[in-house]
Order: sequence, then C-alpha cells, then structure tokens
Amino acid sequence: MLASGLVGGLAAPSYAADGSVEVLHWWTSGGEAAALEVLKKKLESQGITWKDMPVAGGGGEQAMAALRARVTAGDPPTAVQALGFDITDWAKQGVVGDLSDVAGKEGWDKVIPAALQNFAKYDGKWIAAPVNVHSTNWLWINKKALDDAGGKAPETWDELISVLDKMKANGIIPIVGGGNAWNAATMFDSVVLSLGTDFYKASMVDLDPAALSGDKMVEAFNRLSKLRSYVDDNFSGREWNLDSAMVIEGKAGMQIMGDWAKGEFVHANKKPGEDFVCIRFPDTQGAVTFNSDMFMMFKVGADKQAAQLQMASDIEDPAFQSSFNVVKGSAPARTDVPDTAFDQCGKKAIKDLAEANEKGTLYGSMSQGYASPAAIKNAMYDVITREYNGDIDAKEAAKELADAVAAAKG
Ligand code: BGC
Repeated sequence: MLASGLVGGLAAPSYAADGSVEVLHWWTSGGEAAALEVLKKKLESQGITWKDMPVAGGGGEQAMAALRARVTAGDPPTAVQALGFDITDWAKQGVVGDLSDVAGKEGWDKVIPAALQNFAKYDGKWIAAPVNVHSTNWLWINKKALDDAGGKAPETWDELISVLDKMKANGIIPIVGGGNAWNAATMFDSVVLSLGTDFYKASMVDLDPAALSGDKMVEAFNRLSKLRSYVDDNFSGREWNLDSAMVIEGKAGMQIMGDWAKGEFVHANKKPGEDFVCIRFPDTQGAVTFNSDMFMMFKVGADKQAAQLQMASDIEDPAFQSSFNVVKGSAPARTDVPDTAFDQCGKKAIKDLAEANEKGTLYGSMSQGYASPAAIKNAMYDVITREYNGDIDAKEAAKELADAVAAAKG
C-alpha cells in the first residue's frame, strides 16, 4: 500500500497514486468552500479524485444524521468532518478506521496537542486527522461602526454594552446572531466564559449542578437576553454566515462567533484592523474555548484505504496546515507550523491558543461538542434557545439547564 516510503524528514510517505475519497462535511459558506478547495486541490495534486458530500448546518448536527444513514446502510464515506465527543461516539461503535501507522511514521504524537489527541485517538489508536483549531470566544466588529461608536474595542461587559448602545443610537443593528440553536449556543460559550474560567469549567465541562443552576448561571442568561435585545427582529432562522455578511456590509455592528467568521471576512476581501476588528469576547481575554475540525476516517474496503491514508497524511502536512488555515480562519492543529502567513487575527489565534494551553485556561467549547457528548449538548441547546427566544426567563432557564443536564446524564 505504501507506494514510496521516504522517511527521515525528506518527504512525507506517499500512499496512493490514484483512487478517490468521498468526503462528508458541512463547509458550504463562501469562506468554508474556499478553504475546502485548498484540501481538494492538495488531494487532486496527488491523483486522488474528490467526491463531495456536503450537508449544510453549523456544528454538524445534520451531517451526523446523514452519516448515521450511510453507516446503517453499511456504506460509510471515506472521511467525515466531525467534532469532539461525536468522534468518540462513532469510535465506540467500532466503525472507524485506524490511522496509527501513518501517524506513527509522521510523528503526530509529538506535534498535535494533547487536547486534540484526546478526541483524535480512541483506545490508543489514531482514528481522525485534526485539520485545525477554531475557538468560539471571539467578537467580530465592523471597523467603521466601531469608529462611529467611539473607536475603542470593548474589553469588559460594561464597555460592550456602552458600544452597543452607541451603535443603536447611530442607527445600525448593534449585534447579530442566535438564528438557530447552534448559533445561540455559540454566543452562550462566550457569555458563560465572561463570568470566569472556573465558572465555565464547573458548569460546561464538569456539569456541576450547583454551577448549572446557581446565581452566576442566572446572570449568564441575563447577559444572553441583554445581547438579544440589541439583535434585529429578523434574526430567527438566519445562518451565521449571513450574520457575518451583515457585519461585513456595516448593516450590523458586530457578531459573536467562532473564527470561521473570519473566513467570511477574508473571502469578502476585508482586512483585519482596516475593515474589521477581531477581539476576544469582553472579559474572556487569556482563556480560549476551542474546537477542532477533524476528519474521522471510516472502515472502508481495501481498494479505498490507500487514498484514505494519503488524505490523512496530506491533512497533517505542515505547509498544508498553513495554507488551509489561513483561508479557514483557524489556527493549525500542529504546534510546529509558523505563523508567518497568517494575518493579525490568525497570529493572535495561534498565540492565544498556545498561552491558554500553557496556563490551563484552554477549554473545550460547549457549543461545538468539545465539552460534553451530544445528548447533554443538545439538552443545553434547547434551554438556551428557549431563553434566547424569550420563552422562559433567566431564572427558569438556569433551573431547567441543571434539570435537563441531569436527565441527559441519565
Ligand atoms: C466548525 C467550523 C465551521 C462552522 C460553521 C463549526 O462547527 O467547526 O469549521 O466553519 O461550524 O459551519
């Protein structure tokens, strides 16, 4: 299977001169499609044919449902974009492949951070190739809208509210987001983290009932509905990339979103510092809520394995990690990729990640399935959406959150 086994740092091994990969993913926005193209081109340059299986929907819920149907039919795709605990859940079902051979030859253990290995490996075996590290505690601000609102990027919750008030007075929509459960949950990651790293860890990671139902959680929900009060009335059902487009155009002032939003700004030829500003969500500086897109590899027939291993090897190629993540808005999944080609937001993402990892303030993102398994995440999504939409108040939401998590834990 190994066509040419050049090792010793000369060149990555080459697994397939031809063959094809069928890839299930949810990268359908402009910026995402541009990033996907980088991967597709890389594989095509190796003689591998790309069979595209896009299933739209941030967070991958719809993609996972489509995957279930394929696995049940005994015909899984070669590679599947997946997140955190979803990967572990599939691994438990015994349907994933084994990349340990290629990972061993290429020394993945040494360059992929432990926080990612926890999900990319199962039972000691590599089952997925991490392509990036995203994080959710970002605020994306239209630069002109910020200048019109006094020009100072908000560093604290109170400063944020004052900027939002000014944007409102200036006649624009101050903030956009929360159009579906996943989007509102992504905002909630930042809001919870803004009340302290200990609180984020206790509630979102450790699922401590007291933290889930306590006064701080009531405050988190109050903050979430405060943000909602600045969002336009047409938010419901609007996708995150359309929110980004509103910020790009200056119709809206800002958006809380993972750094895949930067992919949209860059795709629209916007420059950080000139057209838009990227900052950590106020009061979350120094901490990072991360998620990593991984390509989980399925057990496929012998005729498909060479291309599958080549794809895994290509994904971990350091040069590819740089060119892909520059477009995607994420940081590389490897720690040895230089930040030279990245813009100022990308450089910040890489630096923040390394520092948070060092300091112990790097946490799995709840909204992206890196803090708890899907059943618990979905239970949280439900409560968060109902509170965001005004169906329940902050006090009820905190109580329901604790109850829903307890029920989902079983
Ligand atoms: C993924 C990103 C993607 C975003 C929106 C997230 O769950 O990690 O890669 O861009 O969803 O589709």
